[in-house]
Amino acid sequence: MADGILIKAATVLTFPQGFTGEADIKVKGGLIQKIGRGLRAESYEVLDASGCIVAPGLVEMHAHLREPGMEYKEDVGSGSRAAACGGYSAVFCMPNTDPSIDNSSVAEYVFDRGEDEGLCMVLPHGAVTQGRQGQALAPMGEMGTCRAHVKGFSDDGSPVADSEIMRRAMEYARTFDALIISHSEEPSLSADGQMNEGYYSTFLGLRGIPPESERIGVFRDICLAEKTGAHLHLAHLSTAGSVELVRDAKKRGLPVTCEVATHHFSLDDSSLMGYDTNLKMNPPLRSKADVAALLEALADGTIDVIATDHAPHAPHEKETEFDRAEFGCVGLETALGLVITRLVGEGVLTMEDAISKMTVAPARLMKMERWGYLPAVEEGLPANLVVFDPEQVWTVDPTAFKSRSRNTPYAGWSLRGKVKHTIFRGALVVKDGQLTSGRDAVLSQVKNRGGNGQKQSQLNR
Ligand code: DOR
Ligand code: ZN
Repeated sequence: MADGILIKAATVLTFPQGFTGEADIKVKGGLIQKIGRGLRAESYEVLDASGCIVAPGLVEMHAHLREPGMEYKEDVGSGSRAAACGGYSAVFCMPNTDPSIDNSSVAEYVFDRGEDEGLCMVLPHGAVTQGRQGQALAPMGEMGTCRAHVKGFSDDGSPVADSEIMRRAMEYARTFDALIISHSEEPSLSADGQMNEGYYSTFLGLRGIPPESERIGVFRDICLAEKTGAHLHLAHLSTAGSVELVRDAKKRGLPVTCEVATHHFSLDDSSLMGYDTNLKMNPPLRSKADVAALLEALADGTIDVIATDHAPHAPHEKETEFDRAEFGCVGLETALGLVITRLVGEGVLTMEDAISKMTVAPARLMKMERWGYLPAVEEGLPANLVVFDPEQVWTVDPTAFKSRSRNTPYAGWSLRGKVKHTIFRGALVVKDGQLTSGRDAVLSQVKNRGGNGQKQSQLNR
């Protein structure tokens, strides 16, 4: 086995500096050992990265990994493999599992499963209410102090419909500096809806979900964040009205952040004309005007984070009548390509800003420094890195996905920007776009170093 990894001639993208030029990077013992020019190391595995960018491993703030209980769609293993191939080093997963992640035992179980797989960090968000039933608060404090150190709480998949419960959840979360991650929606307006309400829903004869459903939910949640002082993070925003409310909230200095999912800026409701159930999500794909507003909000910084809302479903749950199909699409393996093609390629964001919304921004919101996780390419830091070719054009082939599910709307799409290598805790887990047996290397480092495989000095930084 090689003594370490030598990445040759990569263009380094780190934060807060941005692009710092071309360099070689030596990785050894889980850490970025040296960054410089003309580095040599005979006994190291050499990766030619000329023409490629090396950046901190991506951080996913919003994925559904389905374990426990719905492993036929995905589990922590298949989700970790999909994430590593997508360039991710950390994935926060939503608690709408069965049983839901609403107590410390389930949270620790999911966290430990991620450590066992050893391909990326798997960090559970906890439910706001017990069983995600919206009735009684879940033991958030207990989840916050358990081994999984849950910081984000969400009933995602459903809104917390009862405003009093949401208010109490925010008051509680505030006391231990946790985030409430809101799936904002007014259920009475979106009940039984299948797609965005508008011209296309009328044309297709499908019941609509009006944009006001999300906007009213966002307005309520911002009001409650203002009242309680809790950090509110709005998940998967899809409408012009919602981002306008966030823009205003930020101007007023409220503790509000938000994310967009890759499908909401890549697609609009006109694409539903073929009744493809892979285009059915909640919130639904919106109008072209909404997509334009999301792009503007990405560009002006109103939208902090780019997430995937990776939502795997089995064939029998998608290959059915539109109104019976489940909501959601997979996203971990197409996110970087969509971001580079649609946002960087079309001049919406610079590469630095785009990657920052997929690394530094979610890491900061989730306070990942408490794990010793610092999204930067710097000597002495744990080596969690993605190497990608920003120019390579590739065709999305769902049969090649590592996810257990294939429900993607992008089959056959040509995307620019391809993950080549992913390094997690110093081990090469993806090489030339394929999984390696790097997991074993990660596990031996974890064993040798204990805990998260990081130096104590880093944990204290
Ligand atoms: O499209 C979606 N899929 N939206 C959600 O809110 C839930 C998610 C899922 O869990 O499948
Ligand atoms: Zn979700």
